Amino acid sequence: MKLLVATQNPGKVREFRLLLAQLEAAICFPSDLGLNIDVPEDGDTYADNAGQKALAYARASGLLTLADDSGLEVDALDGAPGVHSARYTPGHDADRVAALLAHLKDVPPDQRTARFRCVVVVASPDGEAHSAEGVCEGRIASEPAGQGGFGYDPVFFLPEYGCTMAQLSQEEKNRTSHRARAIAAALPKLCVLLAGGKFG
Ligand code: IMP
Repeated sequence: MKLLVATQNPGKVREFRLLLAQLEAAICFPSDLGLNIDVPEDGDTYADNAGQKALAYARASGLLTLADDSGLEVDALDGAPGVHSARYTPGHDADRVAALLAHLKDVPPDQRTARFRCVVVVASPDGEAHSAEGVCEGRIASEPAGQGGFGYDPVFFLPEYGCTMAQLSQEEKNRTSHRARAIAAALPKLCVLLAGGKFG
């Protein structure tokens, strides 16, 4: 059985490879199939965006497909950037991190609570879709630290580890991250769908 993971983000590809390694399925990515579909991420919810992506890739490939959509929710910004995390400011990850820190410059440490949220959707080519969610709680640091991960990881401080997500090894991030928790919640359904052997 094959499972297509619909992401082009190199950081997510690294994480998904490890998170899904225990599955009895061959994991592939759109680049392995020469697939590049432009799916708009303009939904109001993570589930809308992940669902649209998973369904579009499942229909195009004929394979059972997993997609995620995730974001950072900062309490002092009323939950922003949330579902708009990827488009918070133009530019690269470092520009978005800088914009976030600028917006929080007068916010004291105890009010910098935040969480990463991830929704994964598993979709089949015939339109069946199942979603699962994972959340990871933390705080926004006053300055970036660490070289690992991607996106907002350098400013996402995890009190239980005493460091930012970018300072964790890939294995440690995969034990605690929002994406790891969403995958854990999706695994039972994913196993049933793969065992059904209908696709791929
Ligand atoms: P998307 O799920 O690819 O739309 O990502 C939304 C935004 O959240 C992007 O700016 C990502 O960089 C950021 N993001 C998603 N997951 C993570 C993560 O695990 N760490 C840091 N940033 C993330």
